[in-house]
Amino acid sequence: MKIGITETVLRDANQSLIATRMSFEDFEGILEAMDNAGYASIECWGGATFDSCLRYLSEDPWERLRKIRQKVKKTKLQMLLRGQNLLGYKHYPDDVVRKFVQHSIKNGIDIIRIFDALNDFRNIEVAVEETLKCGGHAQGAICYTTSPIHNLEKYVEMGKTLESMGVNSICVKDMAGILGPQEAYDLFKALKSTVKVPLVLHTHSTTGLGPITCVKAVEAGCDRIDTAISVFSGGTAQPATETLNYALKQMGYETDLKEDVLKEINDFFRPVKEKFIQSGGLNTYVMGTETDALKYQIPGGMLSNLIAQLKQQNALDKLDEVLLETPRVRKDLGYPPLVTPMSQMVGVQAATNVLLGERYKSVSKEVKAYIKGEYGKAPGEIDPDLIKKVLGDEERITGRFADTLEPIFEKTKKELGDIAESDEDVLTYIAFPQIAEKFFKEREEKRSRVVSYTITKM
Ligand code: CO
Repeated sequence: MKIGITETVLRDANQSLIATRMSFEDFEGILEAMDNAGYASIECWGGATFDSCLRYLSEDPWERLRKIRQKVKKTKLQMLLRGQNLLGYKHYPDDVVRKFVQHSIKNGIDIIRIFDALNDFRNIEVAVEETLKCGGHAQGAICYTTSPIHNLEKYVEMGKTLESMGVNSICVKDMAGILGPQEAYDLFKALKSTVKVPLVLHTHSTTGLGPITCVKAVEAGCDRIDTAISVFSGGTAQPATETLNYALKQMGYETDLKEDVLKEINDFFRPVKEKFIQSGGLNTYVMGTETDALKYQIPGGMLSNLIAQLKQQNALDKLDEVLLETPRVRKDLGYPPLVTPMSQMVGVQAATNVLLGERYKSVSKEVKAYIKGEYGKAPGEIDPDLIKKVLGDEERITGRFADTLEPIFEKTKKELGDIAESDEDVLTYIAFPQIAEKFFKEREEKRSRVVSYTITKM
């Protein structure tokens, strides 16, 4: 049996270990070799890459994608999309979601992994439909979490729903790395006997379970796993490509990976990693194994955020209290999966409840919007007293929030006029208006510098 391997070094490993700071120049020289490695796909775009290109690297994310496509001619290119949130943190109207998907595929993406933080699949429907319409591969993702209301039956039900939406494959997305080997085995066995489309596992090595969990998932029928080339693997990134390739082959599975090419890729990224260690861009902390996440059932990243937040307020002695309060807040909010943006919202609320000495004395506008229904349907019941306290007489939204949003693409395009040189520019602006404006200005200045330099030379 053949197992597909998706390489994450350009996106998730880059995002998890070095805050997505790899520039195109950092990896340009290895793209052709990566195309020959035998990967089922290369995850290279979406997630935080878009934001990071504009904000820190002064790169046009669309141009980066086109340049990758020029060098990676055979292998499928993959991206991560937060459903109706696209690559940002709020809900966009449907016309923007459709345009974004169209242009992602037009510029070179083959596979779009689409998820919603609350597993409210109404929020991924439009993106899935448009991906299929454009001839792309739509991969529906289930965010994995544990809670008294999350169980095997529920996840299998989600798998069925995704399949009925027409997705080409289904991914179990374990962003916190808390999916254990036995849970993975049971989950993939159950999904395999229920749905026909290929199954994918995306996990992280954060708690150290990653590689064992991948192996058990494959034994239960998982068809594809995400891994990162070894120098950029482990810790908060994915398990290592070479290690999993070695183990799977020993167990009698086939992969299309070529070991000599993997070595070439790994050797290429070694000095890149070294550069980030030297500059402080890679904190060795993220390379380690963080087992506290297993005890507290909260992602490692969220734990370090909480510690930083408490330190800032000189209240680190309250950490134990906050760690006890966190699951209570999560329960009150109907057990949302602790993934962006929910992990931040729950963490901040728990800390606020402890520091102010009274629960929900102050509630952030994000938590209020969540309770109102602007993020979608909570997985479980939100505490009725909390709803009353936060919303008063205000009505909750039970429909799909995006249905309340007016189309904005054509209007924004008109408003931007010459500032936007393409539809891609308009989408960049809609996604991140302030940074886009600054980026467009810098791009213009860079060009005029090149022009004046050429004239002087002549
Ligand atoms: Co991930």
